[in-house]
Amino acid sequence: MTEPTVRIDLGERSYSVRIAAGLLGETGEALAGATGAKQAVVVSDTTVAPLYAQPVLDSLTEAGITSRVLTFPAGESNKTLATVSAVLDGLLLHDPPIDRKSVVVALGGGVVGDLAGFVAAVALRGVRFLQLPTTLLAAVDSSVGGKTGVDHTAGKNLIGAFHQPSGVLCDVETLRTLPKRELRNGLAECVKHAVIRDAELLDFIESHADDFLSGEDGALAFSADGMIELIARNVAIKAKVVAEDERESGVRAHLNAGHTIGHAVETFVGYENIGHGEAVALGLVAENALAVSRGLLRADVADRVKNVLAMLGLPVRQGGLDADEIWRLMQHDKKAMAGRVRIVLPNALGDVNLHDDIETGEVRRALEALQ
Ligand code: NAD
Ligand code: GLY
Repeated sequence: MTEPTVRIDLGERSYSVRIAAGLLGETGEALAGATGAKQAVVVSDTTVAPLYAQPVLDSLTEAGITSRVLTFPAGESNKTLATVSAVLDGLLLHDPPIDRKSVVVALGGGVVGDLAGFVAAVALRGVRFLQLPTTLLAAVDSSVGGKTGVDHTAGKNLIGAFHQPSGVLCDVETLRTLPKRELRNGLAECVKHAVIRDAELLDFIESHADDFLSGEDGALAFSADGMIELIARNVAIKAKVVAEDERESGVRAHLNAGHTIGHAVETFVGYENIGHGEAVALGLVAENALAVSRGLLRADVADRVKNVLAMLGLPVRQGGLDADEIWRLMQHDKKAMAGRVRIVLPNALGDVNLHDDIETGEVRRALEALQ
């Protein structure tokens, strides 16, 4: 199979996403080509660094780039300004410190990518960075598009900056060590992409579900070609949306399908108790039910999406949700405008619109689809 490369077309901020097996070993060459840098700092977490930092460092050394690794403890609870501050210390207090030509290399899942990207956005008023995603979610979503940032006690991702990477190298072999639950979190975002832009992607996911989830936790046995195709198709969707609306003043909001109810459910249930993709799966089921009740979407299409999510082992039911509290959380979501809930609803697979006239009773009924 030829190596898929997806171009993110953003004028002078354009870059390529390469997807293949073994790309970690090409980091040095890619970085030298894309940036000409002589110094790089790899930022990673305590789970990913022991698994994958060495081949990245070796490759950087081979390309004549001086490099070192900074790690922080894995997990969403560390995606904070305190960690940003510690990583900035590691960049600026080192001898020699980074300079404007240095590059930050984000090696890890979405937590590492968002945090390291934000560090790169603010260090010396902005240095370049490279994304090396090691989760499916990071590969198909967070490593592409330039949203960087960290969480605040007031909510997730409330502090951040748009800062596009100089390139993305997605080495599918790294995904084999993922726990299946993490792979499923990424698959939920793939189903979301199918719902908003690409009906045929849903067929592809459905027909490859067994392959993607084959093997044991931490030793996944998917076929590299199937995984590469899955990622390339998803990145192509995200590339198109981001090229059309980099700063989310329009169609980029479509990427929030499943997320308005999903985020509220995630907050209600507690981040420690539910994966982000699991919450998105529940959000898609409830939002699709809402679209059906508005007469926008056929019930059999909503059922099909629900069945594919269930087939992937994602949750499609959640008991104990308090509809009033979910509605309150939706009104406080950062996507809400002046207290008006905004929600992306499908008319058919691949065709969605943003709605801002949602009422509490509709959400209450939609949540019944999760019982
Ligand atoms: P994550 O980065 O926390 O990774 C999940 C877990 O898997 C972590 O414990 C991590 O250490 C571990 N891990 C990562 N790669 C591994 C590998 N190859 N083998 C074994 N373990 C590995 O979570 P995530 O799901 O990748 O990302 C979630 C984050 O992404 C959230 O903070 C979310 O807000 C953010 N996000 C950002 C965007 C964006 O556009 N910037 C989009 C979607 C999500
Ligand atoms: N994950 C949503 C976005 O990138 O806009």
